[in-house]
Amino acid sequence: MNTKTIELIQPLKESIEQEIDLLLPKESERPSNLHSAMRYSLLNGGKRARGVLLLLCARSFPSKYNPLPAAVALECIHAYSLIHDDLPAMDDSPLRRNKPSCHIAYDEPTAILAGDGLLTEAFKILSEHYNQAPEVALKLINELAKASGSLGMIAGQQEDIENEGQPIDASTLEYIHERKTARLIQAAINMGFILSDLASEKTAYSHALGLHLGMAFQYKDDLLDAQSDAETLGKPVNSDQAADKLSAVKVYGLEATQLRADACLEKAELSLKNIGGDTTLLGEYVALLSKRDS
Ligand code: IPE
Ligand code: IPE
Ligand code: MG
Ligand code: MG
Ligand code: MG
Repeated sequence: MNTKTIELIQPLKESIEQEIDLLLPKESERPSNLHSAMRYSLLNGGKRARGVLLLLCARSFPSKYNPLPAAVALECIHAYSLIHDDLPAMDDSPLRRNKPSCHIAYDEPTAILAGDGLLTEAFKILSEHYNQAPEVALKLINELAKASGSLGMIAGQQEDIENEGQPIDASTLEYIHERKTARLIQAAINMGFILSDLASEKTAYSHALGLHLGMAFQYKDDLLDAQSDAETLGKPVNSDQAADKLSAVKVYGLEATQLRADACLEKAELSLKNIGGDTTLLGEYVALLSKRDS
């Protein structure tokens, strides 16, 4: 791991965490249990990969907007997706970010509602914090809604569940991976570049960077599930195999999944070169994500 990159990223992570603390309703706010569960799942843990990517893209070109609320909105959607993903009706996973999953630490109804609360909070944050620039606010809201809605992340989650125990099918796997994970990572990148007003002729490169990086990210998630240990990963391992998920490891095997992840990373790096701007740290972070161990 490149320790210099990690050092440079750390303050960005911390700034996102401070902003989460600032923007989310306090635990003292009634219903206290609900706000406590929302904070439990969103604070104290997680790589903040999507928020950090957004911040790095936002600073690639001069920007007059504060990207932190947008990073928080994105992390709210991500945390909501994880709370619901872990529910007994979905992946039935008791551990998340090295802690009991939300429905274990609280209860199932509270976890469902905490997820709902975070989902809604994301759009409240975007509409309130960018209201001085309504066009920017609308673009951010539209980007996040498309990525996370029933043609995006939720589509991927639905077919992920429907394909448990089903025969190997590479095109369905690619459909699922693109939607359940790549779309939100693509939104992180696109939202960052919306805030730094990327030239319209370059938006195709921004989309491509997000898609390839997002696919590499989920290939790696599947590899870690098969190869890591729960302590390092902070969540159960071998869970894809146990649920007979249509994972990349099931479809391609370990070696070919790694090759596909490497190929996606190369394509992401090429797209990044075409974007231009001050993207040195972004490039280093993209490479670092592909080598992550959790
Ligand atoms: C886990 O995402 C779920 C996927 C979409 C692969 P992360 O690996 O980003 O999880 P955290 O936020 O660091 O916990
Ligand atoms: C989760 O994919 C994707 C979303 C939550 C949208 P996984 O089910 O593979 O994520 P983990 O492995 O539980 O983090
Ligand atoms: Mg899942
Ligand atoms: Mg899961
Ligand atoms: Mg997984």
